[in-house]
Amino acid sequence: MDLKQLNAFISIAELRSFSAAATKTGLSQPTLSRLLKQLETDMGVELVDRYHRPLDLTEAGAFFYDKISAILTEIDTVTSMTQRLSAPSSILNIGFVPSVLYGLLPEIIARLKQSSPDIEVNLKDISSYQQMDALKSGDIDIGFGRFAHQDPWVQQILLRHERYVVALPKAHALAHVREQRLIDLANNRLILYHQTRLPMATPNAHTKTLHTNKESATNDTPITEPLLHLFAQYGISPFMTTTVSDLQIALGLVAAGEGITLVPASLQTVRTEQISYQRLVHENVTSPIYLHTLKDFVHPSIPDLLTAIYHVYEQRGITYRHQKFT
Ligand code: BEZ
Repeated sequence: MDLKQLNAFISIAELRSFSAAATKTGLSQPTLSRLLKQLETDMGVELVDRYHRPLDLTEAGAFFYDKISAILTEIDTVTSMTQRLSAPSSILNIGFVPSVLYGLLPEIIARLKQSSPDIEVNLKDISSYQQMDALKSGDIDIGFGRFAHQDPWVQQILLRHERYVVALPKAHALAHVREQRLIDLANNRLILYHQTRLPMATPNAHTKTLHTNKESATNDTPITEPLLHLFAQYGISPFMTTTVSDLQIALGLVAAGEGITLVPASLQTVRTEQISYQRLVHENVTSPIYLHTLKDFVHPSIPDLLTAIYHVYEQRGITYRHQKFT
């Protein structure tokens, strides 16, 4: 069994076609077919059902695909990390979720460039979840996101908790109420925009649902949509929800009077002509900011970046947890 055979099997399994796999790998169909046959002969197991159209995996083939694709991804990760260890790039590639760009990210980068004038930075807009793969493939060296991820290759530092504020259309009856309670917002249409779900939200046994809608809580269904989860912690299920694909669209709908939403406080400078942002009384209604990087390869500029972050926090009087990389 060798890597060529395994990669041929993976392409055939993923594309369910010899011709599509040939186009993807640049190998001829007879070569792919020979590599697959050799692999099956070596293992003494039929992996692909060739008589089925489109091609299908046998039960053993599906099991093998599941396990071996994870191992091949690990081989790619280790190869890319080894290359980076031997010759670290002078460019620091930073992945970020859009909500941190509205906040302190520009100021932090400016501070980093001031303290390390030779540094070259490349910023990439990439979701929290995709940052894990981008770290492993070497597309980014560091990622800033708002969700915790458990990944054996990745270490994370919780930088701080940022409070949510409520975004209401200027004409809304509550638009001028300074301190808001979630219960008073429950009769509005809540606009949801998160692409990532909470990994292990647990149901709160004491939660009592006040209103019902499609995504409402039951005692044994964990609510993994982040905003609904915040409401559910207070026993509230918003009257109606609308789900959109990102934060900007959610704020666009609020500006158009279509509903309300909750956003991290750093967003409260967006569309202020149409939107009123107000504080929430609940201190624990917050959105965390995490820094993610690989466990075994920390880009040489990352400690300077962390110093720049803490410098900005101190200048602004922001409470944070001082942490170091392991
Ligand atoms: C922050 O707002 O705390 C933050 C934003 C971007 C990167 C790091 C921290």
